[in-house]
Formats: sequence, C-alpha cells, structure tokens
Amino acid sequence: MEYPRLRLAVFFLLFLHQNLFSSAAESGVVEQTCAQAAAKGIDFDFCVKTLKKNSKSSTAGTRDLATIATKLAEKEFKHVWNAIKKLLHGKLTVPDKQALSVCFDVYEDGIDALKAAIKFIKSRSESDAITYLSASLTDVTTCDDAFEEVGRKSPIAKMNEEARNFSTLALAITSLL
Ligand SMILES: *[C@@H]1O[C@H](CO)[C@@H](O)[C@H](O)[C@H]1NC(C)=O
Repeated sequence: MEYPRLRLAVFFLLFLHQNLFSSAAESGVVEQTCAQAAAKGIDFDFCVKTLKKNSKSSTAGTRDLATIATKLAEKEFKHVWNAIKKLLHGKLTVPDKQALSVCFDVYEDGIDALKAAIKFIKSRSESDAITYLSASLTDVTTCDDAFEEVGRKSPIAKMNEEARNFSTLALAITSLL
C-alpha cells in the first residue's frame, strides 16, 4: 500500500516543481524588462499589460519583447490611420480636413517607419531601429501640430496619445538592447 502513495507523492512533487518553474519563467522576462523600462519613465502596468497581449511574451527574450512592442505600435498606428480615413470621408470643416490630411500622410509614414524598425530590431541594428521608432513619434507630433496650426481642437488627440504611448514603450524596450 506504500507504493501508490509514494508514486502519488512523486507525481505531485514533479507537478508542483514544473508549475513553480514555468510561472517563474513567465513572470520573469516581461516584469524584468518592464521594470527597466519603468526606470526610463514608462508606466510599469501599461508595459506588462501591453506585452502580455501577445502570448509569445511569456517565453520571449528582450529582443523578442522589443519586436512584440513595435508590432503592437504598428497595429495601433494602423488603427488610428483607419480612423482618420473614416473621418476624412465624413463632413468636415476646411481646417479640420486640412489637418486630418496631414495626419493621414504622417500616419502612413509612421506605419512604414515601424515596419522598418521591426526589421532592424531583428537584424540587430539597434541604432537604426531607434531612429525609425523616433521618427514614428515625430509623425504623431506632426499630426498634433497640424491641428494647432489651423487653430482647431484635434478630434483624434486621445488616439494620438495612445499611439505615442505604444511607440514610446517600443522605443524604451529597444533601447535596452
Ligand atoms: C499614455 O501614458 C500616460 C503616461 O503613462 C498616461 O497617463 C495616459 O493615460 C496614457 N494615455 C492613453 C490614451 O492611454
């Protein structure tokens, strides 16, 4: 009667061991990377929440996390670009249309810049990746400025802020490489 009990105990210990190990690995890299990004001014919770949107982040290294963050930024930029496109199809005042057209162009550039950044992160050209990530941030600022120049309140200010947050996160993680 001792035998099955021992087997059960061994099984249980192995199970426990494996779970402890994998959860340590899961909480490891993302949290560690986000703690380093937080030292550069990134919101820790936003960082963890964002990276964990991609299930691959649990087994990723820092370079993979930089790629994941930049891909998420690209997705966000596409989302804003689509929203701008929709707005441009609606009824607009002349100054709003003028500013939104600028935004449409720069977001298109921003999407290309983020695509280039992903390529450079993967090919270990960090400084090029950082150049393109910074360019994507400039694109967001140009869109904000376009509304300021025509003296109008931007209807996409919040989306711009969100896009900026994603690019800033990707830039912070890439600069850890
Ligand atoms: C962007 O990040 C800032 C700083 O972490 C935060 O306060 C703000 O709510 C974020 N904005 C959006 C739209 O998510």
